[in-house]
Amino acid sequence: MSQVTPLTRRSFARFLAGSPLLPLLGFSACAPGEPRDSTADATLRELSDLIGSPDDAINVFDFRDVARKTLPPAHYGYMATGVDGDETLRANRKGFGRFDLRARRLVDVSSVDTGVELLGERWDTPIVLAPAGSQKAFHPDGEMAAARASTALGHHQILSTVTTTSVEDLNAVRNRPVWYQLYPTSNWSVTQALLRRAEGAGCQALVLTVDLPVDSNRETLRRSVKADTRDCSTCHDAGPTGWFSRKPMFEGLDVQSIAFDTPWMTWDFIGRLRDETDMRILVKGIVRGDDALRCVQYGADGIVVSNHGGRAEASGRSSIESLPEVVAAVAGRVPVLVDGGFRRGTDILKALALGADSICIGRPYLWGMAAFGQAGVEKVLEILQAELQLAMQLHGVPSLADLDSSFVVSS
Ligand SMILES: Cc1cc2nc3c(=O)[nH]c(=O)nc-3n(C[C@H](O)[C@H](O)[C@H](O)COP(=O)(O)O)c2cc1C
Repeated sequence: MSQVTPLTRRSFARFLAGSPLLPLLGFSACAPGEPRDSTADATLRELSDLIGSPDDAINVFDFRDVARKTLPPAHYGYMATGVDGDETLRANRKGFGRFDLRARRLVDVSSVDTGVELLGERWDTPIVLAPAGSQKAFHPDGEMAAARASTALGHHQILSTVTTTSVEDLNAVRNRPVWYQLYPTSNWSVTQALLRRAEGAGCQALVLTVDLPVDSNRETLRRSVKADTRDCSTCHDAGPTGWFSRKPMFEGLDVQSIAFDTPWMTWDFIGRLRDETDMRILVKGIVRGDDALRCVQYGADGIVVSNHGGRAEASGRSSIESLPEVVAAVAGRVPVLVDGGFRRGTDILKALALGADSICIGRPYLWGMAAFGQAGVEKVLEILQAELQLAMQLHGVPSLADLDSSFVVSS
């Protein structure tokens, strides 16, 4: 029997990558949304067998391949989409290439400490699960899979306003409550009701998302919806309250005429929230130093540097490149978190060296969830945590407290 050597396999892969046969095999040369990490090994991975269990995964991208295969096109499109031609989504990955790590030698790294403190609470890892809506579109367990996995491995989690699992149910399985992400609606009494639910469920902090005053142009999503030939009406009831019926945080609220667009929202809104709740308030979606300073001046307790994973404004600028000016403006007065394109332990190390207190991941844990439910989320978190620890050892960083800007240079 002839053996396929790595070389011939690679040549075959290259041949197929340029071949019109590829779509017939159920693969596209490039997944919608963000590109693969490295085009060289991507072709090989594309054509090799998809992983059959979380333990087969070598990096987090292995889960994306399974998620893409498993999910209906429209659901995968919702997860993958950026805006316009996905330029900002891609920029988030490319941005990490603008910073290089600068290793320190002959440091005792027999053990490493990845612990961080956030608003007075100690966490064993700086990797936080970002808020993402409608997770039952990816797996029947949805947010619960993320909650169980993150609790088992000691990660913090932020829950979306448009969660498909209630904050009460989620906090019941977590040893420490989630932070609750807020999309205020056009109706203040609905916002008040959401705050009461989050407070009642024990949430210590509110994460106000400010980067979507109006809907963004998600072309990859629109194309994937067109490509989805299923009858979606059983789940997506077209009535005025149909969408809300799958969003338990809105249960019992008058949602007939509310809108999520917030073009009216200005800095005073932080004060309004402050008067309404004792929860700490973080502002998510900041990409400029002057806005970060305003967050501090208006009484925010923390900042999340974010462009919504390339799903809000089509700026073309990565969030890692926005981080240094925010860190400089805030000058340690409040914690700074950052998200957007984190896929590697070295990405995390760069952000923390640039002054972030923690980082959030979105799509990677959703890939894991879509592929294998809770076990997939756990494995994604394990891979990223292991990569971070390895990067710390190889760059001479025994503890995240030892990390400073000397470990990173602009390239
Ligand atoms: C499917 C999906 C749904 C999201 N839903 C929300 C949301 O409800 N609220 C929010 O503030 N951000 C939301 N985000 C943005 C994430 O919180 C986060 O900023 C982004 O995913 C980070 O980038 P990454 O996916 O490249 O890691 C969503 C992102 C995705 C991919």
